[in-house]
Amino acid sequence: MTATPPDLDLPACDFTVFGGTGDLALRKLLPGLYERERQRHLHPDTRIVGVSRHDLDDDAYRDLVTQALFEHVPEDHLEAGAVHRLVSRLHHLALDATSPEGWDRLHGLLKDNPARTAGPDESPIRVYYLAVASDLFGPICGRLDDLGLVTPECRVVLEKPIGADLASSRVVNDAVGRVFEERQIFRIDHYLGKESVQNLLVTRFANTFLEPVWNSRWVDHVQITVSETLGVAGRGEYYDRAGAMRDMVQNHLLQLLCLVAMEPPTYVGGDPVRDEKLKVLRALVPLTGADVDRNTVRGQYTTYGEELGHPSTSETFVALRAEVQNWRWAGVPFYLRTGKRMARQESTIEVVFKEPPHAMFPHSEGTTTPNRLTVRMQPDEGMQLHLTAKHPGPGGIRLHPASLDLSYADTFDERCPDPYERLLMDVMRGIPTLFMRRDEVEAAWSWVEPILDQWQRDGVEPVRYHPGTNGPAAAARLLARDGHTWQEPST
Ligand code: BG6
Repeated sequence: MTATPPDLDLPACDFTVFGGTGDLALRKLLPGLYERERQRHLHPDTRIVGVSRHDLDDDAYRDLVTQALFEHVPEDHLEAGAVHRLVSRLHHLALDATSPEGWDRLHGLLKDNPARTAGPDESPIRVYYLAVASDLFGPICGRLDDLGLVTPECRVVLEKPIGADLASSRVVNDAVGRVFEERQIFRIDHYLGKESVQNLLVTRFANTFLEPVWNSRWVDHVQITVSETLGVAGRGEYYDRAGAMRDMVQNHLLQLLCLVAMEPPTYVGGDPVRDEKLKVLRALVPLTGADVDRNTVRGQYTTYGEELGHPSTSETFVALRAEVQNWRWAGVPFYLRTGKRMARQESTIEVVFKEPPHAMFPHSEGTTTPNRLTVRMQPDEGMQLHLTAKHPGPGGIRLHPASLDLSYADTFDERCPDPYERLLMDVMRGIPTLFMRRDEVEAAWSWVEPILDQWQRDGVEPVRYHPGTNGPAAAARLLARDGHTWQEPST
């Protein structure tokens, strides 16, 4: 039986994307909006405004977006009528966020919304999506404010990474905070929009069987892997400044760690969930001095410089060992790993349980393997519970590894929406639960920054690894030291 779908209609809004011709807008945001257009969830009066430095009129922008939809939307979802409806909502404005020119046109366009959908102040809902570098967030918000385009019904969406360290993130957050209240600021981390990641919350908190064993008494260790086969093609300039630590660990991987380690919130809503995640971030044992060398691995794939066009010392791979110092998790290692040009395109969380305390099948063949809960974020979103089972048939008790498998694709009729699609709808509806609060972002920087500093102080060069592998051997040694191995998919 399928649950009754909720009312999915969205309020009318003016959705403005700064960076409207960029990779994120064309690959994720507009295809996400298209999917909701296709399902007729977008309000008829909703308009989408792309802002970029390119000198495009509305028609040229519509052509560009149409082409992007044909490239990025699955073929069986392409419907001429829906494409037409979506592109008819589009406008483009050329302006440079750092220059005062052109903003009057944005003002003219946004002030002139025929919809006037009611917020409490009778203004239309306006969403400003800042898909640009975070040093532009402050200047853009300042100009929107000067033009009187910020009302209580406005929301601003900030892409990660926010700043490059704690101090610069504070500068950015202060500048945005001068214009928008915290409740209006949606700091996006698209990992939180993945179905399997949200399902982790549901599995933990809408069921009872895991809670008694979800702690240091029964969990041996946790592994979080986000491994990509792609390199940095097309995003080299940004990526080389950020590196894997700022691009992936400071946000996506630490957020995943939080969802695994957090205490049950009083209810699943904006502040209760974020309060609990914050407590986890603050309980991370700081890595400083010699602990950095001992607990982190920095890697770079051998063809990175060639791909980039110049040599670089940025990392494209990070593995690290973290600990959460609290009653539930003391002593349990959390291993995080992420890299580009790896062997597989795969993201998983592995919660590895302890061995049974006593071996009670003395004449059995085979051995017990530790229970393991695998959350698969990609490919094939789902969850697997690995058990030891009795092999059927004669021959005494033979132990055999087996698993209970929840594949989203096989279990549900619905497709898994792209995380951006889901999160954009939450912004339009004003639901903040799956977005990061300022204190979370800053707590994450506070933990990551000493590692970055120590690498710099020690002149830690990334260890080379060959494309198509699981990263540097040092990452395997990091676990071997504790008697563990990374769970690769075939194991
Ligand atoms: C982005 C990073 O946030 O996440 C990219 O900037 C990375 O470097 C991407 O490739 C990975 O997302 P996903 O959903 O494809 O695993």
